[in-house]
Amino acid sequence: MSVISDRELLEIAAEARKASYSPYSGYSVGAALLAKSGNVYTGCNVENAAFTPGNCAERTAVFKAVSSGEREFEAIAIAGGKSGTDPKDACWPCGVCRQVLNEFVDAKNFRVITNSPSGEPAVRSFGELLPFAFGPNNLK
Ligand code: THU
Repeated sequence: MSVISDRELLEIAAEARKASYSPYSGYSVGAALLAKSGNVYTGCNVENAAFTPGNCAERTAVFKAVSSGEREFEAIAIAGGKSGTDPKDACWPCGVCRQVLNEFVDAKNFRVITNSPSGEPAVRSFGELLPFAFGPNNLK
């Protein structure tokens, strides 16, 4: 088990959000992905003038982690909102990011954490966010 709390992971995501490059949407996102090794990989959204090449914060974090040799993960925290705001609203991962995460996480045990208006971190299991997922097992 990790020594990093959900709230601390969310704070790391909020810090990562500061690097967001999101001039087109004006919506900045930061993510903090906790590996079972204890390492935390951060990411932000990186937009592009051609629009479709842009990448979400969550996928940035996953790709950083996997390309650093990590394959097993415990949790991801996401902080996002209109740029310049301190979001209290939730920013749950988009469908594409859910599919990318599905490749590496356990539906029951992997936690997805984001902000909530109450100030308490909102937490869901990955399986709640992507039920009936298509994943590696389908190709065995
Ligand atoms: N975005 C993320 O980075 N993560 C999410 O979970 C939702 C959306 C980004 C994509 C785009 O740069 C901007 O937020 C608006 O959709």
